[in-house]
Amino acid sequence: MTSSLQIFAHRGASGQSPENTLLAFRQAFECGARWIELDTQLVENQLVVFHDDCLERTTNGRGRLNALSLAELRRLDAGQGQQVPLLEEVLQLVSDRQAGVNIELKGPATAVPVAQMLDDQLVRGQLTSEQLLVSSFLLDELEQFHQLMPQLHCAPIYETLPENLEDWLVRLLPWSVHLDQRLIDAALVARITACACRVFAWTVNDRDQAQRLAQLGVKGIFTDFPEIFFETE
Ligand code: G3P
Ligand code: MG
Repeated sequence: MTSSLQIFAHRGASGQSPENTLLAFRQAFECGARWIELDTQLVENQLVVFHDDCLERTTNGRGRLNALSLAELRRLDAGQGQQVPLLEEVLQLVSDRQAGVNIELKGPATAVPVAQMLDDQLVRGQLTSEQLLVSSFLLDELEQFHQLMPQLHCAPIYETLPENLEDWLVRLLPWSVHLDQRLIDAALVARITACACRVFAWTVNDRDQAQRLAQLGVKGIFTDFPEIFFETE
């Protein structure tokens, strides 16, 4: 049953490698994943791949991400000697493998530069629209992205459900809705499916739980351990 799920390596193979690094993304592809998920934010007007507001949890730096220059950020160790990657570097990995990427607009003001970068990649034939899915908790940011690039798949992410869920689905026309797995039940899957959207669940690190979600109609999961979904049984 889990074989019917679309598997996204959440921040790469982040259960075994430093999250959101080129190493974690390479390992995700090596274990068989076809899709990765990453978080992007702006530093000195450059798109970098980084989850938190602060540096401590995932690097040897201290303080806030937006207090650093890009050069200072790139000198930090993001674990196992890895640098914080540029979004463009990760897109090159995806392009080389003809894989897929879910770009989460994590930081403010990311919609426009991400749209510009993806437009450039599409025009140059580096990536195709089928390899791209753009998501965000920041619904205004996501709506701006959707208006700039309506031809690309987008997805709102929810940790709690808004009262006006269906209104947002009409406005964004998303490909998928990315839900905290704790929100999911059959009725909610039916509501979202009725709006012609798929439900993808985060963050699912257990095969049995993935199977339960698949039985509820969930079509994809984000996991820190993509390897457990690709190992031979
Ligand atoms: O997109 C699913 C998941 O990545 C959302 O939460 O905090 O891991 O970015 P977070
Ligand atoms: Mg994310």
